[in-house]
Amino acid sequence: MKMNSKITSLFSCVVIVLVRKCICDSSLLVNTHDVTIKLKDVAVVSIITGPSYTPINGSLSITVQHSDIAKVNSTGITDLSILEPNQSTPIEITASSPGKTDIYTNSTSSLVNVNDIYFKVTVYRVQWLIKFSTAIGWIYFVAWSVSFYPQAYSNWKRKSVIGLNFDFLHLNIVGFVLYSIFNLGLYFIPELREEYTNRYPRGLNPVQVNDIFFAVHAVILTLVTIAQCYIYEKGDQRVSTTAKVILGIFGLFLTISIFLAGFKVIHWLDFLYYCSYVKLTITLIKYIPQAYMNYKRKSTDGWSIGNILLDFTGGILSMLQMILNAYNYDDWQSIFGDPTKFGLGLFSVAFDILFILQHYVFYRHRSDSQYVFQQ
Ligand SMILES: *[C@@H]1O[C@H](CO)[C@@H](O)[C@H](O)[C@H]1NC(C)=O
Ligand SMILES: *[C@@H]1O[C@H](CO)[C@@H](O)[C@H](O)[C@H]1NC(C)=O
Ligand SMILES: *[C@@H]1O[C@H](CO)[C@@H](O)[C@H](O)[C@H]1NC(C)=O
Ligand SMILES: *[C@@H]1O[C@H](CO)[C@@H](O)[C@H](O)[C@H]1NC(C)=O
Repeated sequence: MKMNSKITSLFSCVVIVLVRKCICDSSLLVNTHDVTIKLKDVAVVSIITGPSYTPINGSLSITVQHSDIAKVNSTGITDLSILEPNQSTPIEITASSPGKTDIYTNSTSSLVNVNDIYFKVTVYRVQWLIKFSTAIGWIYFVAWSVSFYPQAYSNWKRKSVIGLNFDFLHLNIVGFVLYSIFNLGLYFIPELREEYTNRYPRGLNPVQVNDIFFAVHAVILTLVTIAQCYIYEKGDQRVSTTAKVILGIFGLFLTISIFLAGFKVIHWLDFLYYCSYVKLTITLIKYIPQAYMNYKRKSTDGWSIGNILLDFTGGILSMLQMILNAYNYDDWQSIFGDPTKFGLGLFSVAFDILFILQHYVFYRHRSDSQYVFQQ
């Protein structure tokens, strides 16, 4: 029954998508939305009429958002009424400086859906840097995903979770559940995607399939690690009152947000963003209890350094990717203008360095040498 209704709703989504496409087909389309051009090169794109296009009384104008990055050889289509079905109007785009710019259109006729007639132009300096950057992206994705295993392995091997901080684990599970909600919601729920496109008409969808994989996988592995805490020896370790209060505050905040969204005071998309802000806050604080615990015990026994080394590798590579992209697209603003992405990366790497120092320098001689992943 439940499955059936899911299939039905999936089916109706498909139908909606098809119907939308048909409406577009009768009007104007573009041959591509994404245009990547080497600096000083030229690309030709086209605006095309659908097979059932009916002449429209009006004109279409073309605007380049950042005219220093790209130039077009045409200001638009002055007379839409002379176009025929299946007709293509070529437009030449010249790349004049590295960066990203939108080229969008507007029409004097409301019959044209201009929201779909746009080009996202990316002008790069060096071609191989694009592939290199993509490869780095996959490597840090793998490093971060694998980083959950050493801790679980070490717990299993020791049959003990002594030394692993429970506050860290519980902050982590809440953080990754919220991150999964954000990713799944924005990827799978049509109403949320629609609201996102309304707010950022030519924006890229911020969620990709590998983000979903990463988040859900992280939830599963963190749950496994928490389950280990119930099975294996744990001494007198428990979740601290401070952590419970902090999690309670997050819970209260999100519960209020759910009610506000339920009563339509805010949109569900805002709720998703609140989830992501809580997740960011958790990323900032989650390592503190573990670092303090290591300091109190003067030991990192039970806290897997393998996890930290992989996290560190991922963090360094993700920052390297941001720097390479900033150079290739001349977009240093994305690093220095938006502190969340780069700043968070830097913050995590700083904590990893602290853990590496605790493990290999400060409390080196107290380490239990019989476990592979703790070396
Ligand atoms: C437009 O192209 C489609 C296939 O691409 C074709 O079926 C249709 O007959 C064409 N229409 C006209 C008016 O040429
Ligand atoms: C087309 O629009 C113009 C003004 O925008 C108007 O004067 C003219 O009558 C319209 N023609 C048709 C066929 O609708
Ligand atoms: C712009 O360039 C394209 C492709 O080179 C060409 O076909 C088109 O006629 C040009 N448009 C104008 C308005 O010059
Ligand atoms: C697009 O054109 C319409 C009608 O000509 C005008 O009212 C509207 O403000 C324009 N929109 C933009 C974003 O320029």
